[in-house]
Amino acid sequence: MSNLYDKAYEQSMNDPDGFWGDVAEDCHWYKKWDKVLDDSNKPFYRWFTGAETNTCYNAVDLHVDNGIGDQDAIIYDSPVTDTIKKYTYSELKDIVSKFAGVLKSKGVEKGDRVVIYMPMIPQAVFAMLACARIGAVHSVVFGGFAANELATRIDDAKPKVIVSASCGIEVKKVIKYKPLLDKAIELSTFKPDACILFQRPQEKASMIDGRDFDWDDEMAAASPADCVPVKATDPLYILYTSGTTGQPKGVVRDNGGHMVALKWTMSAIYGVKQGDVYWAASDIGWVVGHSYIVYGPLFKGCTTIVFEGKPVGTPDASVFWRIISQHKVNTLFTAPTAFRAIKREDPQAKLMADFDLSCFNYLFLAGERLDPDTLFWAEKCLKIPVIDHWWQTETGWAIAANCVGLHSFDIKPGSPTKAAPGWNMAVLGDDGHPIRPGEIGAIVAKLPLPPGTLPTLWQNDERYKETYLNEFPGYYETADAGFIDEDGYVFVMARTDDIINVAGHRLSTGGMEEVIAEHPDVAECAVMGVDDKLKGQIPLGMMVLNAGVNRKHEDVVKEVITSIRNKIGPVAAFKTAVVVKRLPKTRSGKILRGTMRSIADQKEYKVPATIDDYSILDEIKESLGTIGYGSKA
Ligand code: COA
Ligand code: AMP
Repeated sequence: MSNLYDKAYEQSMNDPDGFWGDVAEDCHWYKKWDKVLDDSNKPFYRWFTGAETNTCYNAVDLHVDNGIGDQDAIIYDSPVTDTIKKYTYSELKDIVSKFAGVLKSKGVEKGDRVVIYMPMIPQAVFAMLACARIGAVHSVVFGGFAANELATRIDDAKPKVIVSASCGIEVKKVIKYKPLLDKAIELSTFKPDACILFQRPQEKASMIDGRDFDWDDEMAAASPADCVPVKATDPLYILYTSGTTGQPKGVVRDNGGHMVALKWTMSAIYGVKQGDVYWAASDIGWVVGHSYIVYGPLFKGCTTIVFEGKPVGTPDASVFWRIISQHKVNTLFTAPTAFRAIKREDPQAKLMADFDLSCFNYLFLAGERLDPDTLFWAEKCLKIPVIDHWWQTETGWAIAANCVGLHSFDIKPGSPTKAAPGWNMAVLGDDGHPIRPGEIGAIVAKLPLPPGTLPTLWQNDERYKETYLNEFPGYYETADAGFIDEDGYVFVMARTDDIINVAGHRLSTGGMEEVIAEHPDVAECAVMGVDDKLKGQIPLGMMVLNAGVNRKHEDVVKEVITSIRNKIGPVAAFKTAVVVKRLPKTRSGKILRGTMRSIADQKEYKVPATIDDYSILDEIKESLGTIGYGSKA
């Protein structure tokens, strides 16, 4: 007998219009759609064309109108500032309406972009919702990126206004945001009209007259602005993510499909209902933060937690348990690396014993492969279902998951379970043909992608096609390799491009290589993701110096590390590099990154038949040995 998952999956494949049309009835529309799925301009598919809605109305006002205005919408829990502050849906509506008024007073109109460069404080969420309220397009930039990265995004998004804060707090360090913002605006070709700055008590930023405005002053003078109807297909946000070069890709999210899909995932995938407390321990700068700190839980009328802290060190490895019991969290979503950090500090989970976790129903993990050790440890300590699910910035929600709101399948360690409804997945070989269950190949999704996924890249349809669609016509290329077994369980094994995953953060090794290559003493270089017990992967750089350079190698290494920190940001966690005599290459000149990675990770590797001079691998081994890496051939 088929279960709810099977039924939903089948309908989403055979009758996507009927399936998503029914799901969409759960949202508020000013005007209903002419078409559920519009395929008139393939390969660009659009959802709910002709419809009008407002994302902020659905996330905030609707709940006030439905009588739950007194329920907590946001709980801000900041162990780094010793603050807990709650906002009801009614309070949220008032603040967001006012901040929307502030944006309007600075000339922001429907379709204009607003860059948000902020730490994990509720003002970041207010700013996102305020943009949605007036139909402006937000682009949140993660605080751990350097000025240069912010400048690239400013130049691409061309924001009328930038919203920022005086500082972020990383455990005990106060990170000044304002100098980074000023530097970014100095570096960018495009200049915003205004910056609105939230001054935090830990750091008072200096303001530039005529350009910078104080958040509190502006709020005090603002008139509230109402929700503006926008087209379902209008962009809600742009979120930049790492590509294969230093130029990030502007993933676009629309209003209608996003709202429909995310609200549905809250019940279907996460099994939560209105009034539940949902906590995504991530950052609003990442897609997890967009989808599951802000929009998903608010669409569903849940209480969402905005957490400014780390799984360890704020103050210790018990902070997750304290928050779950204190705020009665029903569902937690984080990255496996957070659990590895907790496990490292408190392997017996002794700190858990002090807290009542009876409210806690499910732990969801994503962002990187869930290693079986972490899975088993979390299951053993928590005694609740631990659910791996797989998704990407581009998709906005899970491609594969154990959809507990529909049906709980037995899990298979190492697999994020089955394709979620709406996702028609296949594994293709190099020739572009589907391969047998269990065999590894490129994981792809047959077009059209379901609602809520990227319709294109910001003002770059060509790059969208080139990056995702051209390699396997008719399919979206996930750039993940893996297999699907005979029971339909998906296994995601590795990226097929040069993206690496550092503590659940997605980074481009190509981008790092571009920065290293700018060093005047470097002739060529390669950056690889090598195994790391805590962060999953960390970047490791190898450089060949120009002939005649006689400087101390450690000085060049230090300079390169500093320049990646300054140009990409501390989040790159680039701390290890080594100078080598030569880089191993194929006869056609392709650097053998895979072989070098195996050497560094102490894994077995086959000496490639495509190199001329094998002694180069011994040289690499020797150089890596000097920094504590090395291997067996
Ligand atoms: N603003 C400024 N700097 C930031 C920052 C921010 N928002 N976020 C991180 N950084 C800095 C950190 O201070 C650190 O700098 P350092 O080199 O001076 O120490 C660097 O970027 C790396 O940060 P992070 O990746 O957080 O590593 P960490 O060693 O400080 O902590 C973990 C490791 C595992 C505890 C941490 O990565 C974590 O909590 N991960 C949770 C998972 C997560 O949020 N994933 C996101 C996707 S779901
Ligand atoms: P991001 O766009 O930052 O969300 O990163 C997306 C990438 O992270 C995916 O393409 C995968 O490589 C990896 N990823 C995310 N979730 C998982 C998972 N559950 N299992 C394996 N890899 C994952």
